[in-house]
Amino acid sequence: MKKVKILALILVSTSVSSFAADAASNWKEQCAKCHGDDGKGETKMGRKLSIGDLTEAKIQEKFTDDQAFKAIKLGLTDSSGKTTMKAIENISDEEMKALIPFVRGLKK
Ligand code: HEC
Repeated sequence: MKKVKILALILVSTSVSSFAADAASNWKEQCAKCHGDDGKGETKMGRKLSIGDLTEAKIQEKFTDDQAFKAIKLGLTDSSGKTTMKAIENISDEEMKALIPFVRGLKK
């Protein structure tokens, strides 16, 4: 019995101490308000910004992994220089990189 308790404690403490949030929860917190949970961009913000549907192969082909990283880190502007996607500031470079395969995985 005691052994089981100790094992459970170890499991809990290792999952809490993993420092960076995983890509799925970063997506929910940082990206979904514009891109939507599913990446389709069917949100109020998404419609206002006429955001691309990230589940579409054609949209996914429009940007490289490198461009995706830059979009997250530096933000995007439209042709008139107006900010469309603002730079994401509260996650680390590693977390940004981890979001790229997540974004690719939204493609249906
Ligand atoms: C303020 C709203 C907003 C937020 C928040 C946001 N985006 Fe965007 N994102 C946009 C807009 C607008 C575009 C441009 C859409 C287009 O041109 O079709 C875009 C484009 C992109 C692109 C395509 C890049 C390119 O060069 O075309 C990727 C990848 C992307 N976003 C990922 C993310 C990720 C990952 C997050 C969260 C870390 C995020 N976005 C958060 C609005 C947002």
